[in-house]
Amino acid sequence: MKNRSLISISDFSREEILFILDEAEKFEKRPNQKILEHFVVSTLFFEPSTRTRLSFESAANRLGARVIGFSDAASTSVKKGESLKDTILTVSNYCDVIVMRHPQEGSARYASEVSPVPVINAGDGSNQHPTQCLLDLYSIRKTQKTLENLNIAFVGDLKYGRTVHSLVIALTQYNTTFHLVSPPELKLPSAVKLYIKERNLEYFQYTDLAEVAGKVDILYMTRIQQERFADPLEFERVRNSYVLTNALLDHSRKNLRILHPLPRVSEIHTDVDDNPKAYYYRQMQNGVYVRQAILSAILGAIPMK
Ligand code: CP
Repeated sequence: MKNRSLISISDFSREEILFILDEAEKFEKRPNQKILEHFVVSTLFFEPSTRTRLSFESAANRLGARVIGFSDAASTSVKKGESLKDTILTVSNYCDVIVMRHPQEGSARYASEVSPVPVINAGDGSNQHPTQCLLDLYSIRKTQKTLENLNIAFVGDLKYGRTVHSLVIALTQYNTTFHLVSPPELKLPSAVKLYIKERNLEYFQYTDLAEVAGKVDILYMTRIQQERFADPLEFERVRNSYVLTNALLDHSRKNLRILHPLPRVSEIHTDVDDNPKAYYYRQMQNGVYVRQAILSAILGAIPMK
């Protein structure tokens, strides 16, 4: 994995994914160790972020690396018209790995093709968010004690939700049964559904959240991605499609855990936060350990045997 970019979750094999999860477990036990002190990590965020950027920076700092970067491209020479290629070629002189979030689908792959240092995709438009996927897998394995044979519901914006696309693709390796809950306008893209079908797995589509709450192990809630809608009226029609309440969880499985990549807007009622089945705050904490494992693997500090 040393010096390889991580752009799509498909870039990592099943063995490599398990290696990252196992190493993240070790970082959870011992998060502060100076194994990256000779490295510089850059975080280039062309789109807003709280968790991804700060957990990457926390992960790097806890391992002794130094961090440079920006959280607002308007304060950089991009504002003067500098291209993505020139930005990447510039920053690659100053660091050993680039963590990049960008609103355009395909931008991360392009950056990795022009960059002399590895690029980690921290979200490219509505396409992929592979590091979120790895922390989601870590959270599922931690709460269910397995990744195999689970019933997993994805709820909300399955069309534009990049975390959903990455996680569905990864879960096809573990004999998952998929329950897809969305408004008709925001169904999972056909290409991702085809990916499930080609692996001889089942998916079921719903519009009503109540239909799935009692029959799944994981409820993966998502925000309706307002920023991806071309037509504001279309967003208004679907913005309040789902609100998860404690009442909806009355007949849920004992082992059910509720995940959400966050940020949450209104799709999970705040009363649910104290429900023992709510796991989304722990999920984001797991992001630090998983990103420690990703940075360490790509920078060659934890070689895979
Ligand atoms: N889950 C996630 O990507 O959150 P941020 O947008 O805050 O980084």
